[in-house]
Amino acid sequence: MDNRPIGVFDSGLGGLTAVKELEAALPEESIVYFGDTGRVPYGTRSRETVRRYARQDMAFLLEHHVKAVLAACGTVSANAGDVGARLPVPYFDVVAPTAAAAAKATGNGKIGVIGTTASINSGAYVQALEAIDARLKVFASPCPLFVPLVENGFVQTGDQVARLVAERYLEPLGQAGIDTLILGCTHFPIIAGTIRLVLGEKVRLIDSGKEAALALANFLGEHEMLCQPGRPRRAEYYVSDSLENFGGAAAQFLGHEVEAARIDIESYVVSHNSDF
Ligand code: DGL
Repeated sequence: MDNRPIGVFDSGLGGLTAVKELEAALPEESIVYFGDTGRVPYGTRSRETVRRYARQDMAFLLEHHVKAVLAACGTVSANAGDVGARLPVPYFDVVAPTAAAAAKATGNGKIGVIGTTASINSGAYVQALEAIDARLKVFASPCPLFVPLVENGFVQTGDQVARLVAERYLEPLGQAGIDTLILGCTHFPIIAGTIRLVLGEKVRLIDSGKEAALALANFLGEHEMLCQPGRPRRAEYYVSDSLENFGGAAAQFLGHEVEAARIDIESYVVSHNSDF
């Protein structure tokens, strides 16, 4: 039994899609969430910068004495998995569980992957899927405009602007005959309705935040690391920029309002002697 909270982070709001799944799977667990709203997006930045940001985000969560860390960010997952693997607590990211779910779901072996430019450029999903089954055909495509569309509220199913962008990005994947699409960025489930309109109902969408949250939940259960039943639950939300619009935007992801506190993430300097 372990009563410490679970630490979850993302470049901004997208990771809340994973928190929502954790809340459903493990309603009694306490959570500390950090959204790096002051430095979002990560997906257009260099690998070095993403890795530096990821180390600071992880250092912040470790200071909150978390029992496990979930990188609920496709960009960090694809570019800093080795950093997370060196943490002193169990580390989960979205790539491995999502690739496993997609490989299981596909019927024709043709899988699409969409994510930020940094995620797709890393090749992490292609490698993970090929390691599971070298016969899989993977069609990977960056969809960088989806992140600002979500962050700016173009989220209604069928929204004209989002639909035009989705058509441009997704029609080649539809033409390639994919039957499964990995939403490799945790922002993307918010516009799943529009993605479905473009690709049709037959293409299975794999939600990376959900798969990662379920993998973490299973791990905690199997390793007797769940909290004591009936304990009062703590949920703390931290961001690195203004709190002004956070509550309302977070409600869109979580389905309920939350209060957040602002922190200075640049003050979390990870020393070169640190193990991770
Ligand atoms: N949530 C981030 C991810 O999953 C995307 C946003 C960003 O570019 O920072 O990659």
